[in-house]
Amino acid sequence: MKLERFKLERLQSEQEHNVEYNLSESGVEPMHIRDLLPTQELKDQLLDMQLSYSQTNGTVALREAISHHYPGTTAEQISATTGGAEANFLVTWWLRKENPDRDELVFMIPNYMQIGGIWKNLGGKVIPFKLEMKDGKWVPDLEGLRAAVSKKTAAIAICTPNNPTGKILSEDDLKTIVSIAGEQGAWVVSDEIYRGAEIQENKAPSVHGLSDKVLITTSLSKAYGLPGLRIGWVVCPSPKEALELWTYSDYTTISPATASDWLATLALSPGIQGKIEKRTRSVVRENWTIMEKWIASHSDLISGVPPEAAAICFIKLKDGIDSFDFTMRLMKEKSVLISPGDHFEMPGYVRIGFGSEKKYLESALELIGEILNTYR
Ligand SMILES: Cc1ncc(COP(=O)(O)O)c(C=O)c1O
Repeated sequence: MKLERFKLERLQSEQEHNVEYNLSESGVEPMHIRDLLPTQELKDQLLDMQLSYSQTNGTVALREAISHHYPGTTAEQISATTGGAEANFLVTWWLRKENPDRDELVFMIPNYMQIGGIWKNLGGKVIPFKLEMKDGKWVPDLEGLRAAVSKKTAAIAICTPNNPTGKILSEDDLKTIVSIAGEQGAWVVSDEIYRGAEIQENKAPSVHGLSDKVLITTSLSKAYGLPGLRIGWVVCPSPKEALELWTYSDYTTISPATASDWLATLALSPGIQGKIEKRTRSVVRENWTIMEKWIASHSDLISGVPPEAAAICFIKLKDGIDSFDFTMRLMKEKSVLISPGDHFEMPGYVRIGFGSEKKYLESALELIGEILNTYR
C-alpha cells in the first residue's frame, strides 16, 4: 500500500526556503539560542556539553520541567519526543497497535492532518468530527460526534487551540468530548501545541485531568517559538502508557537531541518560560491587529473569523476563487507562500500565518492583496 502524502508538510518543505515571504508558518517568529542563555555560565555549559546520546524518553530534568506544567503529574508520566510530530506519531501508532478491535479514529476537521493521515496509512478508518461555521463562529458538532463514536472507535483526536482556525474548545466542550469517548471506552488525544499562544485573555483549557483515558501531545514549536529545538512530549494519565510509548520510540528517533533536551529544560524553567509566553502573546496580539485591518480592507473578497489563539487565520475566499490555484499563483507570481484550505480538507479557504516580524508580514500581505485585486 502506498502511503498517502502529508500534503501540507510537503508543500512547506519544498517551498518555504525558496520563497521570499513565507506565511505558511503557524508559530511566532522563532527565538535565538542566545535568548535562552542569559548568563555566561549557561553559555559555557552549552559549549562544554558532550554530544553523547540523551536519555531515550528525555532526561529526568526535562521530564520534570514538563510535568510542572501539568499539576499532579510526575516525570514518569511524560514521554519526551522529537517535536510534536513524533509525539503524534507515537501516540497514533500505539493506539492502533493496542486496540486491534477498534479500527476507527474520530478526527476533528479542519485539523493538522498528521494523526488522521497516519491512522489511514496504518490501515485504519477515519471518521470526521466537524468544526462547523455557524453565525460567524466555529462550533464543534457535538451531536455529530456522539453519533460517530462507537465500540469501534479507538480514539477521538482533537486539536485545541485548533490548527487552522485558531478556535479554542471550551471546558464544557472538552468535558462533553471526554464523556462521549468514555461512554464507548475510547481514548481522547488532544494536540495542544498552540496552548500558550492565546490572543484572548485566558489560557486555553486542557483535557489534562479530565479522565484516565486522555493523552496530550504538544511541543515547544509554536507557543514557545522554538521549532528548531525539535522537542515535544506526550502527557500520559499514568506511568504505564509512558513506558509503553517508550517501547515505540526505541524504534523511531532513539532519543531527543542532547543539546535540545538541555535547552528545552531551560525554556520550561519558571523564569524563562514566563518571558517566552509573554513574548508569544504580544506577537500574536499585535500582529493580529495588522491582519484584522488587512482583512477588513479586502472584505469584498475575503472574510475571516478572529482566531482565539495561534498566529494563524483561516480565511474564506469569495465563491469562485479556487483556493489551491490562488495559493499557487501567489507563490509563482509574488513569491509568497501560504497554505491552501485543500490541505485541511476545506477548499475555499486559505491559512495565513501572521507570527513573523511586522514589516515582513505587512510586505507579504501587500503582495497577497495584489493577487486578490485581480479577482475584482
Ligand atoms: C497541530 C500541530 N501538531 C503538531 C505539529 C508538529 O509540531 P512540531 O513542529 O513540534 O513537530 C504541528 C506543526 O505545524 C501542528 O500544527
